[in-house]
Amino acid sequence: MRTNRFCFALKGVMSVVFVTGMLQFSQAQESPPPQSSPPEATALQPGQYLGAGACASGTCHGSVEPRNLYMVKQNEYFIWLKQDRHTQAYNVLLTDKSIRITRNLHMQEKPFESARCLDCHALNVPKSAQARPIELAEGISCEACHGPAGGWIAKHTESGWTHEMSVKEGMKDLRDIVPRAQTCLACHLGDGQKTVNHELIAAGHPDLIFELDNYSAVMPPHWAPFTDKRRETGEQENQEARVWAIGQAVAFQQGMLQVARRARSGDWPEFAEMNCYACHHSLKDGEWRQIRGYRTKAGLPHWNPARYAVLRQIISSVDPQERQQLDGQVDRLAEAIASMKTPPATVASTATNLADTIGRAIPQIRQADMDNAAVKRLIDAIAKDVPYLVDAEVHSVEQAIMAINALVTAMARDNPALAQGSISKTLDKLYDDVKDRERFDREQFAKHVAELQRELR
Ligand code: HEC
Ligand code: HEC
Ligand code: HEC
Ligand code: HEC
Repeated sequence: MRTNRFCFALKGVMSVVFVTGMLQFSQAQESPPPQSSPPEATALQPGQYLGAGACASGTCHGSVEPRNLYMVKQNEYFIWLKQDRHTQAYNVLLTDKSIRITRNLHMQEKPFESARCLDCHALNVPKSAQARPIELAEGISCEACHGPAGGWIAKHTESGWTHEMSVKEGMKDLRDIVPRAQTCLACHLGDGQKTVNHELIAAGHPDLIFELDNYSAVMPPHWAPFTDKRRETGEQENQEARVWAIGQAVAFQQGMLQVARRARSGDWPEFAEMNCYACHHSLKDGEWRQIRGYRTKAGLPHWNPARYAVLRQIISSVDPQERQQLDGQVDRLAEAIASMKTPPATVASTATNLADTIGRAIPQIRQADMDNAAVKRLIDAIAKDVPYLVDAEVHSVEQAIMAINALVTAMARDNPALAQGSISKTLDKLYDDVKDRERFDREQFAKHVAELQRELR
């Protein structure tokens, strides 16, 4: 189904230790940033969008070389423009692939004219919120992630003006992991306004997979490397592992809210919440399912637990009692989804309860002690869970691999030797295991996880 691009994304974290420098400074040097006019301070209102041009001046964020005059490097625009996939998100809508998707959906509009696509593939905001006309062709520009600049653009360079003051005026607090994760997930999972459901997937849209650490590492960083920040702020060891864990919790929470929305919308059952291979498998090799047995009634499509598969280990390590409670709630949800006959309102309320439970656990995860020993215990717990993972099928396995990668990378910050040699090769093997979902080999995967565990000893 999904191959190379996914694996490209997957490889991000481990490599970031070594290649961030290269990514940051390899930008093309040929053309100066486009002409941009400085923002007119007078008429701008909080909530108004200005488009990337407003940030592009060479003395703002459009410097070709990083400058070290202020807290930020000032070459953010240039990195985004030259290297970031988000600039291509609109162009993707011009391709034959996109035309085919909209044709399969019997849509009247062209993909590049339809809000159904543009809401995720561009900065598509109402005209009334545009301080100047926004070029959709810019793709996903600064304000799609950082929030509308109208309230702060003129002021955020004044001396004494702080990040917090900008946040009050409409900037998103991307320094905080929870709003950061929510920002990415709004498009990489969906929100109340936009969605990639089974209909879109069947029409040809890629099935959305996201893991904050891996995807963040693949984005060309236009922010200070984490290690520098840690030095500046004196944060504790393995702050990163904690950040990763919070990302997992937020993804699950948003996933549950999505289940609730879908169940309430009347379009239920929604096949994209279920295990793809419950339906999409060949009957030729079907026998292993009969050997494995069925958790609930035989022959029904099961809930896809990919966003819970790793999170449950995190919760166990933070609060074992909470884990029991969550498992119970998750089982109820899984049953409600698989039975197909459960009233959608029940599915929705079960999912909402789960979102609430995990929401309450996030502050605990923020406090969790995630030193290297704890990180290693988490990797061991994931490794021990291989039978569950392969049972839950390849989506959960992918999440486990991204988790292992993120955790090994966190350990490698304090022990760079870890990232070299055999461990990195074993991680590659794990990625190869899921490169082609159709050919996923459960035994090979189990073997590679065991190999990694031996090497980490
Ligand atoms: C909920 C947000 C969302 C919506 C709605 C959405 N997309 Fe996407 N789309 C994405 C994301 C995120 C990706 C990148 C997935 C990845 O690489 O992990 C993507 C990828 C794609 C790709 C593959 C790009 C490539 O480089 O191969 C195509 C084509 C595409 N979208 C077309 C469309 C069309 C056409 C529509 C409207 C019918 C649409 N999308 C609606 C979020 C969305
Ligand atoms: C796809 C989402 C996304 C887009 C698009 C994006 N950014 Fe960012 N940006 C981030 C994230 C995530 C961070 C990291 C936040 C952190 O660690 O403080 C960041 C950090 C920054 C920072 C450092 C802020 C700080 O608090 O230290 C600046 C400056 C910045 N971005 C400017 C821009 C500009 C200018 C553009 C457009 C040319 C842009 N960004 C486009 C996601 C994005
Ligand atoms: C406004 C919607 C939107 C937001 C917000 C957003 N993305 Fe994306 N992202 C997309 C789309 C659409 C694509 C696909 C672009 C393409 O294929 O050219 C994409 C592509 C990517 C890719 C490239 C994936 C690949 O397979 O090569 C990465 C990595 C990524 N996003 C990470 C992030 C991160 C991290 C954040 C949050 C800091 C974020 N995105 C926020 C919509 C969004
Ligand atoms: C409850 C059963 C069910 C589940 C679960 C399910 N699908 Fe489907 N899917 C179908 C049916 C039925 C069709 C239509 C097949 C046809 O028209 O021949 C379909 C069609 C498709 C198609 C287009 C046809 C093709 O074979 O290329 C794709 C792609 C697809 N599904 C992907 C997925 C993905 C990815 C998931 C998991 C996120 C998933 N499906 C979950 C039943 C399901």
